[in-house]
Amino acid sequence: MGPLESASDSMAELDALEAEGVKAFHSAANADELETARIAFLGQKQGRVKSAQERIKTIPSDAKKAYGQRFNAVRGALENAWEDGKKRFDKPAAIIQGLDVTLPGRAPRLGHLHPLTQTATELIDLFGRFGFSVARGPEVEDVFHNFDALNIPDSHPARDPLDNFYLPGGFMLRSQTSTVQIRVMEKQPPPVRVIAIGRVYRPDTVDATHSFMFHQIEGLMVDRKVTMADLKTVLRLFAQSYLGEDVKIRFRPSFFPFTEPSVEVDMQWHGGDRWVEMGGAGMVDPNVFRAVGYDPDKYSGFAFGLGIERLCMRRHGIDDIRLLYKNDTRFLEQF
Ligand code: DAH
Repeated sequence: MGPLESASDSMAELDALEAEGVKAFHSAANADELETARIAFLGQKQGRVKSAQERIKTIPSDAKKAYGQRFNAVRGALENAWEDGKKRFDKPAAIIQGLDVTLPGRAPRLGHLHPLTQTATELIDLFGRFGFSVARGPEVEDVFHNFDALNIPDSHPARDPLDNFYLPGGFMLRSQTSTVQIRVMEKQPPPVRVIAIGRVYRPDTVDATHSFMFHQIEGLMVDRKVTMADLKTVLRLFAQSYLGEDVKIRFRPSFFPFTEPSVEVDMQWHGGDRWVEMGGAGMVDPNVFRAVGYDPDKYSGFAFGLGIERLCMRRHGIDDIRLLYKNDTRFLEQF
């Protein structure tokens, strides 16, 4: 075999090496097969590229340059084919890079319901067990539902523009959830057993116990022969369920235009001598029944309206109502 033949055989071998190598890298079905191909072709010890490189010593000097150039091209092509293969299989490894599975986990921060929402949900649940269903009314209310139908006369100080958010056109932001009593009775005949929970608005100066917006729970029960004893029983059972068996509540004679007789309901504040008003209550005034077309000779009922913030504050020992509206997560996270 002459030197020329030997050189052209060697060139043919480089062609074959390139074709087989590229095929091996491209057809590798997984990282293991790719690695087997890498060892066979690009392996430093016995790889075929390495052998082809060593063969250059045996190439006649006049063919060395061409062989060398071709060899470099083949080696480059095989390295590229291997890189391509790595890209196909390396992805998971790339994601896992930098992941230390032995590090302690970082718990995701869970959100939860605002304490006032928790209170509202619990009240709905509690009164649900006493047979009360939930009613709703609008926060933008007309003056008729907020005052007239509740037997609050034109001259009554509760209508003072300085004590209410009036809107154009005979509307206002409701100042009490008692409005919902009227809306319910307008729509359905007795018997009625509902609560309504929602926001009410009064232009009070904000301090530790006042806000221009707060929440009330309104209750209304109408049937034949409902008495004040029913009212007191329901409120006492409610207070004990929500605030604890040992909680004391008391009823003080009072006046509301929409109830007769009327009481104010106090709860004992944190066991001490201090009593804090929970809200008002009473037996529905016959004039209110007349306004909604109920017969006051046939039906009687009780109503109550309690402040939700106060209940929530009493339950959790919160001493400043403003904390409930600040949305400071350091505060909210405690509940
Ligand atoms: N609406 C009254 C208020 O906001 C509270 C109230 C008193 C509601 C007596 C009632 C009630 O249903 O019977 O001050």
